Amino acid sequence: MKKVALITGANKGLGFQTAKELAKNGIKVLIGARNMERGQTATNQLQSEGLDAEYVQLDVSNPESIKSAVQQIASNHDQLDILINNAGIIHKDEDWQINTVESIPSKILKETFETNFFGLIDLTQQLLPLIKKSGAGNIVNVSSILGSLGEGNNPESMYYTVKPFAYNASKAALNSFTIHLAAALKEHNIKVNSAHPGWVRTDLGTEHAPLSVEEVAKTIIDLALDTSKETAKFVHLGEEIAW
Ligand SMILES: NC(=O)c1ccc[n+]([C@@H]2O[C@H](COP(=O)([O-])OP(=O)(O)OC[C@H]3O[C@@H](n4cnc5c(N)ncnc54)[C@H](OP(=O)(O)O)[C@@H]3O)[C@@H](O)[C@H]2O)c1
Repeated sequence: MKKVALITGANKGLGFQTAKELAKNGIKVLIGARNMERGQTATNQLQSEGLDAEYVQLDVSNPESIKSAVQQIASNHDQLDILINNAGIIHKDEDWQINTVESIPSKILKETFETNFFGLIDLTQQLLPLIKKSGAGNIVNVSSILGSLGEGNNPESMYYTVKPFAYNASKAALNSFTIHLAAALKEHNIKVNSAHPGWVRTDLGTEHAPLSVEEVAKTIIDLALDTSKETAKFVHLGEEIAW
């Protein structure tokens, strides 16, 4: 049976590239996007290349949107094999070079966590019954090395000075979700891993990033296609990195 994958935030950037590559590997891709026009355009683009794609309206920070997206997926598909939790934000006011932990407003912290953490968990929990039907489910949480407590606390690390607090804390919390969920789902043969894609030229990564989405989506795609039992790992280009 053809595998089915949901990719959140799939209308552009890493999410779109991941969806395209998974579809090229014979997987039916569900394009999760909060904006209907952008999501439908991305879906049409894949379909015009002969790829199997379906649009799902999905705003991960909106409980109603999550509920109807899960209903749509459950009525159109018997199971969900792959979930790529990719949608993510970094607040524009955060300066990548300044540690904002002393002054960041709780509003920004809450907004960032709403998308990068709480909404992601809500969606994942509601999809678990469908993922369990896969028999070999695979959840990839798109994290960041900036969520690594080991790197963030190591003065020798090149990431030590990069401290946009809300973003980094949300990704550290996401990594905690990865290891908790991986342990809980092991007996169901469902893998849960965190991916650090790399610093990539997208709206989030900015034009200053050294890498293209084509180069960088590999970490996510390899994890999504991996059929081994490897779970509870934090991975970059096939290598484990520090939590
Ligand atoms: N770029 C990097 O250097 C880098 C490095 C490490 C990790 N990452 C992670 O990679 C993931 C993808 O980032 P990217 O670089 O591809 O960024 P991007 O081009 O800005 O894409 C982000 C995607 O997330 C979507 N999104 C944001 N909030 C959402 C919400 N509430 N509900 C549904 N979708 C939402 C966006 O939709 P709209 O188009 O509607 O805004 C967009 O499709 C993120 O989790 C990010 O933290 C990126």
